[in-house]
Amino acid sequence: MITVERKHPTFFAEVKGVDISKPLSPELFAEILTAFHDNAVLVFRDQPLTHQQHIDFSTNFGPLFEVTNYHRKEKERALPSKLTDISNIDHTGAIQSGDNHQRHFNLGNRIWHTDNTFKHVPARCSLLYATEVPSSGGETEFADMRAAYDALPQDRKDEIEELVVEHSIVYSRQRAGYDDYTDGARTELQPAQQVLVRYHPAGRKALYLASHAARVIGWPEAEGRVLLDELTEFATQVKFTYAHRWRAHDLMIWDNRCTMHRSRPYPDTTERRVMQRTTVSDEINSVERRAAEAA
Ligand code: OGA
Ligand code: MN
Repeated sequence: MITVERKHPTFFAEVKGVDISKPLSPELFAEILTAFHDNAVLVFRDQPLTHQQHIDFSTNFGPLFEVTNYHRKEKERALPSKLTDISNIDHTGAIQSGDNHQRHFNLGNRIWHTDNTFKHVPARCSLLYATEVPSSGGETEFADMRAAYDALPQDRKDEIEELVVEHSIVYSRQRAGYDDYTDGARTELQPAQQVLVRYHPAGRKALYLASHAARVIGWPEAEGRVLLDELTEFATQVKFTYAHRWRAHDLMIWDNRCTMHRSRPYPDTTERRVMQRTTVSDEINSVERRAAEAA
């Protein structure tokens, strides 16, 4: 039996009483999955994990994305192909220099987002694991998009119910001042369409937003952007958010179908923050899912 301690009025819990480095029985995983669906964001603390154990635990939740690097290739840390490097360390093991490409690209994580909404089949959840953490700052902040959706006025809910949004990583990185794609990457990175209101399989609706959300299909560009900005501002009010202060050996999992997140600043040219992320794929594009459910 695991213990689940809710730490915020609407979401986020700490799970105790399980060693996630070991294979889990179906019963134990079912308990964790229930906690995940109830709380949307979970932390497991004091879990020393190898890369492979991190990957194996993640695979319980579904198939993992292979990591692609969208930025211009430079020498990178050698990690298994299912791990995204969220650290500020370069391939020599030293802190990245201020002009490092990966540092510049990862700065985009400071803007509220959801992982992989710019892919046709987006992410179900992400699992981020820390081995080294800075002495101050560097929190990951989460927003509960179910609670935010519930709190919208009814006329807003009616207005947005059927909308479809185009998501693009080129767009979100441009917002963060990054525009250094190779031509090949640019053609590979065609935008994807996602619903704006997601029905989560655990039974609640959620706003589905991200920094990647570029325009509302069928709306004039400016009006779509204003709507997306207004909804994002609404959904990231302090009452809907939780900021996680990391300890080494924390493993966090968040549900990309019903939360947003962003990283907070820290002294990143003098202190080390070493983390890796796995990303679990959803089954189907969200617009296709809605069409299939309506049929
Ligand atoms: C991510 C991410 C935030 C952080 O790993 O997807 O956005 O705090 N990370 O590093
Ligand atoms: Mn992210």
